[in-house]
Amino acid sequence: MKRLTILSTTALLSISLVGGAFAAGMKPEQQIETRQAGYKFMAWNMHKIKANLSGNFKQQQVQKAADAIAGIANSGMGALYGPGTDKAVNGVETRVKPELFTNKKEAGKVARDFIDAANNLAEVAAMGDEAEVKQAFGALGESCKACHKQFRQDD
Ligand code: HEC
Repeated sequence: MKRLTILSTTALLSISLVGGAFAAGMKPEQQIETRQAGYKFMAWNMHKIKANLSGNFKQQQVQKAADAIAGIANSGMGALYGPGTDKAVNGVETRVKPELFTNKKEAGKVARDFIDAANNLAEVAAMGDEAEVKQAFGALGESCKACHKQFRQDD
């Protein structure tokens, strides 16, 4: 699993270096919509895990939700921050801050922390200990917030 984390981190870094080549053929507005959909889908799965941690813990449901989040985390979302996606385009709004495109070092760091936390939650969920899931879930939530604080505009 450690190896997988290293591989996905390398993939994310190379994607951010080539600046969106993996989103080739996608218009800027489609990249924005796709990254927003990814975040929304993760948030839905976070809610499912949270519900399981408030009384009725169903390991399989938690594992599926954690796997879905890890799948998105490992998908190389950096490719959806291509040129022209730093502001609203063709009627599609975005809340990304310009710093995400200029402070690549910090953006890479928070992205790596997030991917590690998502992979850790998936591993822990597969083992099924509720207390450990709770801890890993909390850590993942913190990693989402760490990026939002720096790189997403307030509502
Ligand atoms: C590397 C930075 C980063 C990480 C990590 C991150 N987000 Fe975000 N998130 C953003 C940015 C930037 C936006 C704004 C995207 C846009 O509007 O183009 C966003 C937007 C969102 C949105 C609003 C989507 C919409 O419909 O517009 C939700 C919900 C969200 N994130 C949830 C999460 C959750 C849950 C996690 C963790 C499991 C997470 N995010 C991790 C940067 C991040």
